[in-house]
Amino acid sequence: MDFESAKLRVEQLVEQLNIHNYNYYVLDKPVISDYEFDVLLKELSDLENQYPQLLMSHSPTQRVGGDIIKSFVQVKHKSPMLSLANTYSEEELKDFDNRIRKLLPNLDFDYVCELKYDGVAIGLTYVNGELQQAVTRGDGIQGDDVTANVRTIKSIPLKLKGDYPDEFEIRGEIILPHAGFEKMNAERLEMGEDAFANPRNAASGSLKMQDSKEVARRPLDCFLYFLLGDNLPFSSHYENLIKAREWGFKIPNYIVKCNRIEEVFDFINFWDEARKDLPFDIDGIVIKVNDYHLWQELGFTAKSPRWAISYKFKAERVATTLLSVDFQVGRTGAVTPVANLKPVQLAGTVVKRASLHNSDFISNMDIRLGDTVFVEKGGEIIPKIVGVDESKRGNEMFPFSFIENCPECGSKLFRKDGEAAYYCLNENECPPQIKGKLHHFIHRKAMNIDSLGEGKIEVLFDNKLVKSIADLYDLDYQNLIGLEKTLISDEGKSKTISFRQKTVENILKGIDASKNIGFERLLFALGIRFVGETVAKKLAFHYKNIDNLMMATYDDLITVDEIGDKIAESLLAHFKEAKNIEIIERLKTKALQFEMPENTGANLSNKLQGASFVVSGVFEKYSRDEIKKLIELNGGKNVGSISSKTNYVLAGDKMGPEKRNKAEELNIPIITEADFIAMIGE
Ligand code: IVH
Repeated sequence: MDFESAKLRVEQLVEQLNIHNYNYYVLDKPVISDYEFDVLLKELSDLENQYPQLLMSHSPTQRVGGDIIKSFVQVKHKSPMLSLANTYSEEELKDFDNRIRKLLPNLDFDYVCELKYDGVAIGLTYVNGELQQAVTRGDGIQGDDVTANVRTIKSIPLKLKGDYPDEFEIRGEIILPHAGFEKMNAERLEMGEDAFANPRNAASGSLKMQDSKEVARRPLDCFLYFLLGDNLPFSSHYENLIKAREWGFKIPNYIVKCNRIEEVFDFINFWDEARKDLPFDIDGIVIKVNDYHLWQELGFTAKSPRWAISYKFKAERVATTLLSVDFQVGRTGAVTPVANLKPVQLAGTVVKRASLHNSDFISNMDIRLGDTVFVEKGGEIIPKIVGVDESKRGNEMFPFSFIENCPECGSKLFRKDGEAAYYCLNENECPPQIKGKLHHFIHRKAMNIDSLGEGKIEVLFDNKLVKSIADLYDLDYQNLIGLEKTLISDEGKSKTISFRQKTVENILKGIDASKNIGFERLLFALGIRFVGETVAKKLAFHYKNIDNLMMATYDDLITVDEIGDKIAESLLAHFKEAKNIEIIERLKTKALQFEMPENTGANLSNKLQGASFVVSGVFEKYSRDEIKKLIELNGGKNVGSISSKTNYVLAGDKMGPEKRNKAEELNIPIITEADFIAMIGE
C-alpha cells in the first residue's frame, strides 16, 4: 500500500478501533467480536510497522505498554487532591445537611449522590483532547506520574470526542472489578506469590508497577467523578459529569440529583443492600452539593471540602462459634491459622472458615476454642475474626497454643526476626512447598511448560515421580503413560486427569522445549526467595552465568543495581544449601541455559567505536547495567574509573561529587542519559 492510502487507512482504523474500545470498555456494549477486533488491530499494527511515521499517540496499539519506569517522577497537583470528611451515622449526615442549610438560608439547592468506589484516586490532565498526564493522589499535594501505566487502561480515553475544553483535569478512581481480581489472585497463587488481600490493594499495586506491559495485562477500570478547569461547560457538578460522558469518559450511571436529605437516605439504604450485587467494591456513598457557586460559599476545612461528605458502610459482622483451628502451610512455608466456624450467613455467603492471622493475634485476643467470635467481611475476600464475645465465655473454654511442628512434614517451625508468621524451613521435603516450587517453575512467565498445568503436577507428585524441579527432566514416556487422578473441587465437582498418549507427548515436548528458555527466566524459575522477574533479569545481565552468581559474595551482590540486603542474603542462603546446588548441577547435565548467550558480534551499531565511558549514578530510562550493555552493543568501552583517557562520563542522578570534580579537572565531557540516547540514536 502506498503512503497516502496507508495514512488514510491508519486514520480510519484508529478511529474505528477507539470507538470499539469505547463500546466495550466504557459502555459495556461491544458491537463486534473479539476476533474481529483483533483482525483490525493487527492490520493497524502492521501498517504502523511499515510506516512508523503514521503512529499516533492515541492509537489503540499504544495501549499494550512497554515503557519501564525506574522511579516515578513526583508531580505537584495543580489543585490539592483533598479527601472527604467521613461519617458512619445517619445523625452526623443530618448534622451535615443542617449545617449547610444554616450557612445557605432560604436557598433551594441539590445534592448529588454517588457511589464511593474503593480503589486508587487518580487525576488525569487533558490538553487539546489528548491525555497528557496521570498522577496519583500521593500526599494530596504531590503524587506520582503514572501516565505510562494509566495509558494501558482501556476505559480511559487517550483522545476525547465532542466539545471538550482545551485544558482540564478529571479525577476519578482506578478500580479492579471482582472478576479480574479473582483471576489475578488465582494466577498469583499458582505462581507461589502472595494473593492480594482485596481489589483496592491489587489496583494500587498494579498502578505502581515498573513495567507498563504488565500493567496492561491487569484488568483495571476507571470511574471518573470530579472535574477541574477554568472553562468547564457548566457551573454545576452533575451537569459537567454528564457532559464528560459525551467526551468519552466512564461516568457511572449510579449518580442521582436529590433535593432533600431524605432522598439521600433512600439512595444510601438502596445501595447498602444493592452493593452486594455490584461487580466491584464500594465502601460508601459520596454526597456533594451540586452548584459550584455554593462550593465557593461553603469553602473548605484544612483537609476537606465543606460541600461534600462520605457516608461509609459498616463492614458486615456476625457472631458464631469457633469450633477448631487448622494450620495451613503455604508455598513459602508460612503457617497460617485458620478457624473452623459454626456455619453462619455473612454478606450473602455462608462462612465456615476465617483467618486467624498469626499467633500474636490469637494470644493478644486471648481466643479460645468454643468461644463466640465476631467475623467480619470487609474489603477482603477471606473473612476474618475481629474479636471475641467474652461475656459468652464458659469455664470449659481453654486457650490453645500455636503448633510447634509443621502439620505437613513434622519439622520444627521457626519464627524469623521481625516477622509475625511461623515458617516451616524444610523447603525441599515439605509437600506444599515442593508443589509450590514446581508450579512456579512451569509457569508461563518462568519455564512456560503449560502442558503440565491443571493438576498434572499433583499427579506426578502423588506418584512419587517428581520431588524437585530437576526430576522433571528425568521423566519419560513409560513413567507417565496411564497415570490418572480424580480431583474434587471445593464445590464438590469431580474431574479426572488421565495421562493418555497425546497428553504424555505434549508434556515431554513442553519439558524439552523449556531447555531453550534463557538464563534470566531460568533463574527466576528456580524460585529463590525475593528473586522475582526483574531481579532475575538484573542478576543474569550482571553475572552472565550461574557459576559467577553462585560465587558472588554479599559485598559483591549488593553493588548490583537494585539488589539490597534482603535479596543478597536470600541468594547466599539458597546457594549454601547442598540440595539446591545438587538441583542446579543436575539441571546443567540436562543442558538448560545457565549462561547468557555470548555477544555474537552482532552489535547494534559502531556509533561509539573507540570511545570509553565511565557510567555513574541512577538513570531514568535504563538501569546502569543496561546502559553499560548499550555502550558495548554500540562499539564503546566501559571503564571503571575516570582518567585522562576517558572520553565521556555518563552521569545519572546521585553521581558522587568526587567523580564530577575529577571529570571537570580533566576536562572530560559529562553527558546525561538523554545525551547518550541521542548519541546512539535510540
Ligand atoms: S470526590 C474534593 N467522589 O474517596 C472531593 N471521591 O475520601 C474529591 N472516592 O480521595 C473526591 N469515590 O479517592 C469523590 N464518587 C466519589 C468517590 C471518591 C471514591 C475516593 C477518592 C477520594 C476519597 C475521599
